[in-house]
Amino acid sequence: MKNLAILISGRGSNMKSILRAIKSGEIDGIKNVLVISNRPNAPGLEIASKEFGIKTSIVLPDENGQTFDEKLIVELQRNDIFEHNSIICLAGYMRILSPEFVKIYKNKIINIHPSLLPSFKGLNAQKQALIAGVKVTGCTVHLVDDGIDTGPILLQKCVPVYDADTIDSLSARILVEEHEIYVKALKLLASNRLLLKDNKIIQI
Ligand code: GRF
Repeated sequence: MKNLAILISGRGSNMKSILRAIKSGEIDGIKNVLVISNRPNAPGLEIASKEFGIKTSIVLPDENGQTFDEKLIVELQRNDIFEHNSIICLAGYMRILSPEFVKIYKNKIINIHPSLLPSFKGLNAQKQALIAGVKVTGCTVHLVDDGIDTGPILLQKCVPVYDADTIDSLSARILVEEHEIYVKALKLLASNRLLLKDNKIIQI
């Protein structure tokens, strides 16, 4: 059984689909869940605590010199979230994790990104896809490494792009698939059915 931390900054719809899957028993192998936000007013915080009864914390920058990620590590470890017993999901978390943080939780952090990586890394992936004029885009769940949206790919799903699409319509179509593959990826990771070989993830 693993502990799970979900890091959010905003509305938390991916977090919600994960919490729903855990609650319904679709994902097993998860013991304790903690949701952390770097923004006190993130709507996802209330969803986690009120709708799901999940423990939440807010981690803010520190004026006394401790770096943000150091504070985050303290909060995670206070809640028994360590490399050997846990998974960390980034779900709309709008901060870049430091290399030190990534090293401490090596291969235990996963992220969802609204494009078919390695295309359209970084911010506004849906807008980048529309500008590039691609006919197909999608979403990717990947392990987090030191780069931005560069880690080994766990799962991907294609989504068509239509001529009439706006950023909103395309984002909404991608989001439906994000919710599905994030749950699937977490299920695989929680059940130890993945092997990392030559920077590629293989299902076993
Ligand atoms: C999603 O599109 C995700 O791919 C990206 O940020 C957005 C977060 O949405 N990383 P939500 O907070 O999960 O609703």
